[in-house]
Amino acid sequence: MAAPQNINTSSSIPKPDFTHRLSVSTSPTNTFQSPPNSFGGALAQRAAPKQLKPFNTQDIKILLLENVNQSGRDILTGQGYQVEALKTSLPEDQLIEKIRDVHVIGIRSKTKLNERVLREAKNLLVIGCFCIGTNQVDLEYAAKHGIAVFNSPFANSRSVAELVIGEIIVLARQLGDRSNEMHRGTWNKVSNKCWEIRGKTLGIVGYGHIGSQLSVLAEAMGMDVIYYDVVSLMGLGTSRQVPTLNDLLNQADFVTLHVPELPETKNMISAPQLEQMKEGSYLINASRGTVVDIPALINSMRSGKIAGAALDVYPNEPAANGDYFTNDLNTWGEDLRSVNNIILTPHIGGSTEEAQRAIGVEVGDALVRYINQGITLGAVNMPECNLRSLTLEEVGHARVIYVHQNVPGVLRKVNEILGGHNVSKQISDSKGDVAYMMADVSDVGLADIKDISESLEALSSKILVRVLY
Ligand SMILES: NC(=O)c1ccc[n+]([C@@H]2O[C@H](COP(=O)([O-])OP(=O)(O)OC[C@H]3O[C@@H](n4cnc5c(N)ncnc54)[C@H](O)[C@@H]3O)[C@@H](O)[C@H]2O)c1
Repeated sequence: MAAPQNINTSSSIPKPDFTHRLSVSTSPTNTFQSPPNSFGGALAQRAAPKQLKPFNTQDIKILLLENVNQSGRDILTGQGYQVEALKTSLPEDQLIEKIRDVHVIGIRSKTKLNERVLREAKNLLVIGCFCIGTNQVDLEYAAKHGIAVFNSPFANSRSVAELVIGEIIVLARQLGDRSNEMHRGTWNKVSNKCWEIRGKTLGIVGYGHIGSQLSVLAEAMGMDVIYYDVVSLMGLGTSRQVPTLNDLLNQADFVTLHVPELPETKNMISAPQLEQMKEGSYLINASRGTVVDIPALINSMRSGKIAGAALDVYPNEPAANGDYFTNDLNTWGEDLRSVNNIILTPHIGGSTEEAQRAIGVEVGDALVRYINQGITLGAVNMPECNLRSLTLEEVGHARVIYVHQNVPGVLRKVNEILGGHNVSKQISDSKGDVAYMMADVSDVGLADIKDISESLEALSSKILVRVLY
């Protein structure tokens, strides 16, 4: 059976073969699939047997760099795409050579996809960042050239929550100090100011993906949980929201921070907030380094007001592993290292095998949805658009995708082009200078599809045209 086609006249994805008849194209059998959550299984496994394959999948070339997790590789190879996976990133000149040829690139944090590189990526449809951040990609340049970018911001929430639970116990029992003493040959058996965590109050600042996971775990350990968030949120279990940050600081034995890096959260915990905390309480920060005023924390710990702290994130973090955690990096580095009962970790909150696997699944699924169906849910640089899938019953349907400049009058022209056909569903949204339109048209033959595609290509607002059927 001939494989169905993707019509993408703006790239070198194989040009449409109009001798293929629509009736031989496979179409999705299911009418709608919810997007997978961060921890979902492979899309390929969950999908109905006849998933939309809108092109010769073996013609889609994918380059994966930086040892992308096997879970992501399996999803992409399972679709029949041509996947080349390398263990490392590439020097820029080699990257430019390779990127010219591919429709999809998967990277982690080391590969820089700047304008110079992306300018050469004439065939590139989509970038998968198999990591949390997307700073390494010129998102604006990508969007303006119709290249969608996906990442996986929440796949490691559980890993962070579990680390924090561990740290609460380690701080309450001064385990870091006892262990360091033993490593130096010192036996120091003490119970003074060592506590169980049962019955203590945990104050969670920021009750999002991580904060709420932590809430459940902490209650299971017998803690009372309160939380503060700028949004009104229903608490899990018996946890309860408090109206102000000071309320939380006044009541909590352990304060843990899970807010995003924003101007409002910069130095959110500084001298006045530390003053509000209970005598002998503990502070944990695994959010972002700018959230805590670290010199103020050092003072509060030296005075005994704060009995212990765990920091996983810092205002300045080294780009590579090595002996960099010194005053050259942060002026207070060595002071911080000299404080008792402080756990210092190198931004490893989300660094687990499970999180890497979940990232592979989430980004792999997002790439498949985008390549096969044009769905942009989860894209960081494009508006998020979704239409329920075409079904097998809908013979002669095609999905038209038009990425365009966000300027007045475009939709009128697009609708003039589509107007002669029955548009069974349509969605359009914009983000900054770029807009995304997706429409399913029915009762179209190959000549109609060719006509629609060429007419859209001719519009001055065009960034990218794809027709999937
Ligand atoms: N240490 C690590 O390795 C690691 C890993 C993953 C995430 N993180 C960081 O953890 C933090 C939380 O991540 P998440 O996935 O739970 O984010 P999230 O977006 O799911 O939740 C953040 C919560 O903070 C709340 N919030 C925002 N501004 C606030 C304010 N000024 N005061 C109180 N609440 C506020 C939001 O309403 C939201 O509920 C982020 O900074 C993220 O970058 C760190």
